[in-house]
Amino acid sequence: MDTSDNIYIIAGASSGIGLEIARKLIADNIIYCISRTPGELEYHENFRHIPYDFFGNDELPDLPANANSIIYCPGSITLKPIERLTNDDIDKDFIINAKGAFLFVKKYITNIKNSKNASILLFSSVAVQTGLPYHSSIAMAKGAVEGLTRSLAAELSPRIRVNAIAPSLTDTPMAAPLLNTEAKVEANKQRHPLKNIGSAQEIASFACHLLTQSSWATGQVFNINGGIGTIIK
Ligand SMILES: NC(=O)c1ccc[n+]([C@@H]2O[C@H](COP(=O)([O-])OP(=O)(O)OC[C@H]3O[C@@H](n4cnc5c(N)ncnc54)[C@H](OP(=O)(O)O)[C@@H]3O)[C@@H](O)[C@H]2O)c1
Repeated sequence: MDTSDNIYIIAGASSGIGLEIARKLIADNIIYCISRTPGELEYHENFRHIPYDFFGNDELPDLPANANSIIYCPGSITLKPIERLTNDDIDKDFIINAKGAFLFVKKYITNIKNSKNASILLFSSVAVQTGLPYHSSIAMAKGAVEGLTRSLAAELSPRIRVNAIAPSLTDTPMAAPLLNTEAKVEANKQRHPLKNIGSAQEIASFACHLLTQSSWATGQVFNINGGIGTIIK
């Protein structure tokens, strides 16, 4: 059933938020997952894994799909004071967050050109709009993602909508080192006005709304962040 209305190409559907987006869509759609490992949906009949490493130099593979939308989830959390940040840190953060997103969109934009509600979804971070200590490398890389989101939204309207979601700390494998004790979990909950951290399921629900229900949102960065940076409590 690989027809144009029911295909989603997701970079990073093997883990975390991307996996939850895939779980929500996979019953009625074909998911092409581009990542190093296949993850939990490996044996689902609607799941197609494309092994690929965004840190490598290989060309992204051609996909036969005529897809609905494309979603780029790979990213990083590098938290260091500026004295300890290396050139390698900032290069890697830029490659996996920003350059990878650019190359992914450039490659697969033709796959969504016939979609009736085509959209591109990228991921930023709370650390772009809110100054947080030790986040300078990730804030620079995700700042580029936000610029890409708005620039492409202008360039591709009215045919293709382009949006980003900027989460605060969300319980996924990427965030595991920040959430590996009860004390860390509690401290992170308490620093958010809504007194909780994010869940991959909630971020994925919002993403799926943007992908499947929305038709009038473009060029937006949606802050799903427990209120941090906007309100003080
Ligand atoms: N979790 C948070 O607290 C948080 C906060 C703010 C922003 N974000 C952003 O939200 C997005 C999703 O994060 P997440 O927490 O869901 O992360 P995650 O659980 O680590 O999942 C990342 C996904 O990207 C893939 N990926 C990572 N590196 C890759 C590479 N070199 N080549 C190919 N695929 C790669 C991973 O697959 P493989 O490992 O199989 O390759 C995985 O499927 C990211 O852009 C992140 O920066 C997350």
